[in-house]
Amino acid sequence: MSGPNIHILREDEVDRRREAGLVALLDHCFPGFFEGRTFFKQLPHFRLVAEEQDEIIGQAGVDHRMIKVGDQSLRVFGMIDVCVAEAHRNRGIAGAMLQKAEELAKRADVDFMVLIADKGGLYLKHGFRHVSPAPGKWMAIHELASIMMLEKDLPEYFMVKPVGDKTWTEGQIDMMGYLF
Ligand SMILES: CC(C)(COP(=O)(O)OP(=O)(O)OC[C@H]1O[C@@H](n2cnc3c(N)ncnc32)[C@H](O)[C@@H]1OP(=O)(O)O)[C@@H](O)C(=O)NCCC(=O)NCCS
Repeated sequence: MSGPNIHILREDEVDRRREAGLVALLDHCFPGFFEGRTFFKQLPHFRLVAEEQDEIIGQAGVDHRMIKVGDQSLRVFGMIDVCVAEAHRNRGIAGAMLQKAEELAKRADVDFMVLIADKGGLYLKHGFRHVSPAPGKWMAIHELASIMMLEKDLPEYFMVKPVGDKTWTEGQIDMMGYLF
């Protein structure tokens, strides 16, 4: 059986059909979190989606931004809400979306791919590692409004993968925006 079509979906290309597909997928994968939206805190810059027979069966949002770690300014792809419909799991679809994101990151001269995850399994398999300590600083968003700046160590959750030739150095991780 051939695999799903994995491709870039720009936010301005999310039409009604795809919006409905994303809402259904995100609700199925993260029950109770998305409340009928295609995003949790904020729209991503673009997504990788896996489509099969016109159905969106996987998605990975990408936030393309600058962050500051210690005194280094870094270009990153922040990976957001990576998910695959239950019936299609363990076929390598999430891994293929991460790989596609990495190809794009290389093309865009990104220094690191970064993400926040409760469970590292998938990401460890694809070359990410935990950062410890991971003293984060970000703008907290609650109920679709920015509320305050937060500072917290995230060693069990914050993961990075180098894309270029820079080495991750210890220091405060200033997200320069919200925490995806
Ligand atoms: C995590 C998830 C995206 C994996 O999708 P997938 O297409 O089945 O992934 P792949 O086939 O490429 O890889 C399978 C690996 O994912 C890992 N994995 C399973 N559930 C995971 C989870 N919740 N978080 C991280 N990794 C997970 C497993 O280690 C598995 O590897 P193994 O077979 O060696 O044990 C999918 O299980 C999912 O959508 N889960 C619900 C949403 C979620 O928790 N997303 C992660 C947010 S950080």
